[in-house]
Amino acid sequence: MAEPKENLQMEKIVSLCKRRGFVFQSSEIYGGINGFWDYGPLGAELKRNVKELWWNAMTRQREDVAGLEATIIMSPKIWEASGHVATFADLMRECPLTKKRVRADQVEPQSGTVYRFAGVARKTENKDIHRIVEEFAPAITDKNSLRDKLSANHYSGVLNEVPDAFDGFLDQLVVWKQFAVILQPGKPPESARKIAKEFYLALGEKDPVLLGESISKVENSTNFHPESGAELTEARPFNLMFKTYVGPVESDDNVAYLRPETAQAIFAQFKNVLETSRQKVPFGIAQVGKAFRNEVTPRNFTFRSREFEQMELEFFIKPDEVIEAIHGSVATLETPDPKSKTPDPQPNWGWQAWHQYWVEERVRFYEGIGLDRSTLGFHRQTPAELAHYARACTDILFKFPFSKKDADGNVAGDELEGIAARSDFDLSQHQRFSGKPMGVFDDELRAAWAKLPKEKSDDLWRRYYENRKNYLLKSGVEAEPASKQATEDANGLAKGQYIPHVIEPSAGVDRLILALIANAYSEVTNTDDKGKSETIYTMKFHPRVAPIKAGIFPLLKNKPELVKKAQEVRDLLRPWMNVYYDETGSIGKRYARQDEAGTPFCVTIDFDTLGEKPELLGTVTLRHRDDGNQERLKISELRDWLMARIR
Ligand code: GAP
Repeated sequence: MAEPKENLQMEKIVSLCKRRGFVFQSSEIYGGINGFWDYGPLGAELKRNVKELWWNAMTRQREDVAGLEATIIMSPKIWEASGHVATFADLMRECPLTKKRVRADQVEPQSGTVYRFAGVARKTENKDIHRIVEEFAPAITDKNSLRDKLSANHYSGVLNEVPDAFDGFLDQLVVWKQFAVILQPGKPPESARKIAKEFYLALGEKDPVLLGESISKVENSTNFHPESGAELTEARPFNLMFKTYVGPVESDDNVAYLRPETAQAIFAQFKNVLETSRQKVPFGIAQVGKAFRNEVTPRNFTFRSREFEQMELEFFIKPDEVIEAIHGSVATLETPDPKSKTPDPQPNWGWQAWHQYWVEERVRFYEGIGLDRSTLGFHRQTPAELAHYARACTDILFKFPFSKKDADGNVAGDELEGIAARSDFDLSQHQRFSGKPMGVFDDELRAAWAKLPKEKSDDLWRRYYENRKNYLLKSGVEAEPASKQATEDANGLAKGQYIPHVIEPSAGVDRLILALIANAYSEVTNTDDKGKSETIYTMKFHPRVAPIKAGIFPLLKNKPELVKKAQEVRDLLRPWMNVYYDETGSIGKRYARQDEAGTPFCVTIDFDTLGEKPELLGTVTLRHRDDGNQERLKISELRDWLMARIR
């Protein structure tokens, strides 16, 4: 459980987000819908800035990445090939009373007294039998004990005469469905019985008599629903994809899914992008877009939502065997020094170097938008955590206010982005499922292979063959066809053919927005001489992501010449950035409003702008949000000055 202080911080952030129009609950006027969020005027700008910065950094500013914008609904075959239909599931347990589901690994432990019931007896026409059942209810734990009680109370005659018919009668008399509920210390047993009756009533049993009541104590058990206290069902997998139907007929043939990640469209369109973009491996395909997951427990504000956006890059690289064939060996990378430039990619890099490179690039992106390295953490997935096809995965974490502390009080953080080395799994799967070749032809490889000493080419052939065979076997292909296919694949090397491997930096837009908001949030409470205190909120966004880049104010709104000049300045800047013109209230109030919105600069047009002091003609006062410092700038230089800070 998060500590109260941290919850308080989140509460303040959620409240500011609503008050200032960053994030609203979706469908709020109808009571909201769990796991869905809307972005208000400031949030929409913030989000747009983040996506644009990512897009620029990942595509336009690079030679080796092309963009894609694919549909949300795609052929369901894509999700069969990717493994999502079969395995994209969380283990879940259900409350038998409320039908609410919880993730099996996220049940809060509870201690208390457990009341367990074996089932219920139905009311029978035979009043004597019903009386006996009621009298001995706690001791009736199964059919034999019921039989014993009845025979000991003068029903043995019937029992002996028609045992089979009596058995049938007993089956109709009782519902043997267990139910258990935990009560916190101090609660009377009656409340457990009341809850149990509710459960059996919901099953359609009218006026049920509870049977076989037993009591036990438990400590820190994760078997009970945190709200109702009812014992949870066994864990069952629950697929997280939202299902829908394409066309007017709701049949199995028309089932489609809302994409749970943007990545698969990139793999499915790999060949089209390769052919049209004139790229060559190594190169990447980037996409920003919506993803949907029917999360069992959406939580922590927007952190785990059911509809969210991803920014994903699939960066295709040559397999290590190909690098070795061409360059003689595979280069690795020293841990990059954060203070110097990220090393430029080299043709002899293997997957490990590329993986390290992308982790570092992504951290630098976060630093560039105001998330200092100290606010981030890293989690390198252990072999047990890795997907079977992945070779490595490093999660970049952010220390959110709700992130847990370890025993020493250190906060690791929660996942902002995962950078996975996914081998050639995805393209291979789509090749197998679609029957369309996903490999590439590499002239350099063909030429290099022809010159390799036999010993070397045999060694590389064998390694490539083993990797391909392992993949096929793990994917369920029988040994013989797997070996045949792997042989063909390895023979392809000599012809310059291979299936690219991929490094995948996959980030969530909404998590990043939440991280930026949490990071920017600052409050200072000042108390005046009379003891009256006032809290000042400032959102210290980096100028690059700030929703509004500059507030533009005429000093006085009733001076038409000031208003006119201020509007001229606004119109000068507007084509280049989001500015906010404000003429109401004192300058101090206007500053405070912009501080809360996170606007890094405010520009005031005063009488000096108009030439009251001739040497200041055509200048404005520019005030910095974070330290309140002011400086005088020429209007003619204002746009470039701001652009240099917001780009
Ligand atoms: N293609 C790989 C992939 O989708 P992931 O770790 O499942 O990997 C990548 O998701 C990123 O998407 C996460 O690091 C996170 O930022 C974001 N994300 C995933 N599920 C999310 C959810 N339910 N709500 C908000 N963001 C989510």
